[in-house]
Amino acid sequence: MIFDTHAHYDDEAFDEDRDSLIASLKDNGITRVVNVGADLKGSRASVELADKYDFIYAAIGAHPDNANEIDDTGIATLKELSKNKKVVAIGEIGLDYYWNKDNAEDQKEAFSRQIDLARELALPIIIHSRDAAKDTMDILKEQDAGKVGGVMHCFSYSTEIAREVVDMGLYIGVGGVVTFKNGKKLREALLEVPLEKIILETDCPYLAPEPHRGSRNSSLNLPYVVKAISEIKGVSVEEVMKTTYNNACRMYRINNEE
Ligand code: NI
Repeated sequence: MIFDTHAHYDDEAFDEDRDSLIASLKDNGITRVVNVGADLKGSRASVELADKYDFIYAAIGAHPDNANEIDDTGIATLKELSKNKKVVAIGEIGLDYYWNKDNAEDQKEAFSRQIDLARELALPIIIHSRDAAKDTMDILKEQDAGKVGGVMHCFSYSTEIAREVVDMGLYIGVGGVVTFKNGKKLREALLEVPLEKIILETDCPYLAPEPHRGSRNSSLNLPYVVKAISEIKGVSVEEVMKTTYNNACRMYRINNEE
């Protein structure tokens, strides 16, 4: 059993075969998926997918690219969506200076407002952070985000930051990058992260692991990520699947019974 903690099955890349692909997941050992909203439309779509499939849960929020959606109306919309019982997190939220640094102040405000919302709703957060380590860590500390709980998804920073994130009580999300030739920095950081703090994710349709790098990703590729982690940590693939599954259930506060 594998828990994909971060997928975007609402993406148009799945328009042709969404239902048949999702229907095939359970038979392939993917028994839980959290579909993550990147904007308000995606958040609504995530809730719809969670309503349709028993093993899919939803995260709702606006990615830093869509920080402008997080005004009073945006927050009210997220609050309304959160009433659905299968909403298990606020995300993905955070800072991304790789694509756009001009609106850094807007990104920070949207990030903080959504952490406040998560605290109010007693939901963990899914953090997206790219080329913005310092500002992200500053906000997480200021907000005492360890108490809110959550994950730094698609972790891309140094070993030192990984330690800080784990010490705060947050999880590290690991996906296809761990299999990439240029994923050495991540593999090194994972040596320092206890398996009890790692969760699996695809971020599909993006970031397909080797040997499928560059093609459309899906939860079906997670065994490649499991294998890479088992090699780094020196434990069996069964142990990686079981521990990361339990970690994800603990983080999302859902029971771990099948
Ligand atoms: Ni994502």
